Amino acid sequence: MKIRVPRRLPALLLALPVLAQAWPYDAAAPLAEQCDSIDSVPMRQHVNYNEDIQPIWSTRCANCHVDWGKFPSADLDLNPPNSWFFLYNEHSSQDSALVRVVPNQPWSSLLFTKLNCEVVDVGVRMPRGRTPIPLNEQALVHDWILAGAPEAGDDTIFRARFEIRG
Ligand code: HEC
Repeated sequence: MKIRVPRRLPALLLALPVLAQAWPYDAAAPLAEQCDSIDSVPMRQHVNYNEDIQPIWSTRCANCHVDWGKFPSADLDLNPPNSWFFLYNEHSSQDSALVRVVPNQPWSSLLFTKLNCEVVDVGVRMPRGRTPIPLNEQALVHDWILAGAPEAGDDTIFRARFEIRG
């Protein structure tokens, strides 16, 4: 008896690895598209959380995560002195697969992608309903996370990890 093999089968089998590589969905990589370039902002090697980062929250995230009415939006309290504890290695309240701040990894940090990109893993760009924060503040948040997202003070011990941007 003759077994009929579809003529295109070998070609299909050969194409499988190529198709698998082209598969666009990578579950491990956070989704972030239409992001602002911060290449033009000089890299900051010393970022102090209380002096440089907290003022961004206090100015730009008011009413929702700072000085909110009843509960902070998305259970994210950015008031001093709580804010660092709500960010560092904390999982998103909306999707437990996501982490708000992954030390040393701005691109894996939901916080940074939500400040830097129009299309993000969950929800909308922050600050919600307002204009994006200035590039130099986006870059500060980036550099702080890259430095290991230290709670306070100097990041000198992390400086070896810095690479020149751009
Ligand atoms: C007008 C209200 C509003 C403002 C202002 C605002 N947020 Fe949000 N934020 C929300 C809401 C509502 C959510 C939940 C929905 C979403 O993720 O889009 C949220 C979610 C988030 C999340 C995800 C939290 C999680 O656990 O999933 C982060 C991070 C965040 N905001 C950061 C900020 C930062 C930083 C600022 C200031 C620069 C800011 N937001 C300003 C309302 C606001």
